[in-house]
Amino acid sequence: MHAAKASPAFPARFVWGAAAAAAQIEGAARVDGKGESVWDRYARKHGNILHGDTPAVACDHYHRYAEDFALMRRLGLKHYRLSISWPRIFPAGDGAVNQRGLDYYQALIDSLLAHGLTPWVTMFHWDLPQALEDRGGWRSRVVPEAFATYADTIVRAYGDRVKNWITLNEIRCFTSMAYGATGKAPGVIEPPAVVNQTIHHALLAHGHAVRAVREHGGRGARCGLTDNCDVFIPVTESAADVAAAQACFVRANLAILDPIYRGGYAPAYLRQCGSARPRVARGDFALISQPADFLGLNIYSAQFARRGAGGRPEKIPTPPHYPRADSEWLKHTPRALYWGPRFAAEVYGEKNIYITENGCGYDDDTVTRGECHDLHRVEFLRSYLRELVRAIRDGVPVRGYFLWSILDNFEWTDGYARRFGLVHVDFKTQRRTPKLSARWYRDVMAANRVL
Ligand code: NOJ
Repeated sequence: MHAAKASPAFPARFVWGAAAAAAQIEGAARVDGKGESVWDRYARKHGNILHGDTPAVACDHYHRYAEDFALMRRLGLKHYRLSISWPRIFPAGDGAVNQRGLDYYQALIDSLLAHGLTPWVTMFHWDLPQALEDRGGWRSRVVPEAFATYADTIVRAYGDRVKNWITLNEIRCFTSMAYGATGKAPGVIEPPAVVNQTIHHALLAHGHAVRAVREHGGRGARCGLTDNCDVFIPVTESAADVAAAQACFVRANLAILDPIYRGGYAPAYLRQCGSARPRVARGDFALISQPADFLGLNIYSAQFARRGAGGRPEKIPTPPHYPRADSEWLKHTPRALYWGPRFAAEVYGEKNIYITENGCGYDDDTVTRGECHDLHRVEFLRSYLRELVRAIRDGVPVRGYFLWSILDNFEWTDGYARRFGLVHVDFKTQRRTPKLSARWYRDVMAANRVL
């Protein structure tokens, strides 16, 4: 028998990492002067989060970061994507800086570097200071203006050691899904014009973040948005279905990617908005469309599309029994990691793409005799990574991959029931146990190929 043929190698210097976010792992919700965030408030309302969970303690990473970084190092990680909590730095969103919050991340970043980890810092991963929500939240220009000062402050404070900045994480999740639906904080349903305005304000915040990195980031500083673009997989990989899937991609991602890459809202988007168009001030698009250095994509799942009757692009509804992880939305669609980055590169000409998140969440990751055999996660990730390397070999410029997540954590409305970690966390004892997938990922990173 022949040995199995090795899977193709990823490029030399490919960035392998893992990701997490402040509100999901830190806990210490009111420690050292931290202000309340919209997620702290939202979680307190009965019925919003499964089992009444809150982010108040989470993985207690706030106090355990050195131990967690040591573990990451043992697991072979060299790059770590984390976020800074805005309400730790500005408890009221703007105004007085909280020196203890600033000092905390100084120490955390030093510790990261001392453990041989390169930080990739997300400036905003959904934890808006509640005080700003009380002044209008993302509906109002108050937020991008306050964000500008926050971005200036953190880039000035940490820019000597942090060189990779992610401006915002998943704009949809704190705009349309947070002000147009009830599943994300603050979970208020506003009319479409207000929802579209929240997206515009998020785009302005992205622009301020890019400006802050250019002004204060120092040598070698790079930045980019992390977008959870809607991905469409062509049912067959024929030219006709590929063109149909690409047309669906374009239409679904216009609102966020066109202003950034093309400096304005596409006529097709404005038609979609109808009378609910966002209000735009002079200079907004110049700020929003300043060139960034890369695009981050969070890709977990996708829909399917094909050329339909009459030649028009047609989305195929995903059938109810389609395989998925335990999160309802997380369908097993490995080709998402091929077509997502490929369409982003083809449509917008992006030359540097990072997969800033990919992973899968399950409810049954349990530890027995010190081991967690999450074979389902290994198979899931393996199938996605094989599509990613196929994309790279077809010329798609993907430079790195961050697995979500290093630790089981506070999975927003799914609370602590839904586990995405490479490392199991016992939330009663805070004990960490690397899962089988963590060992597998360590070997993949070391070999630079799917094993
Ligand atoms: C995307 C979000 O950025 C992250 O916070 C979340 O936990 C994962 N997806 C999994 O749902």
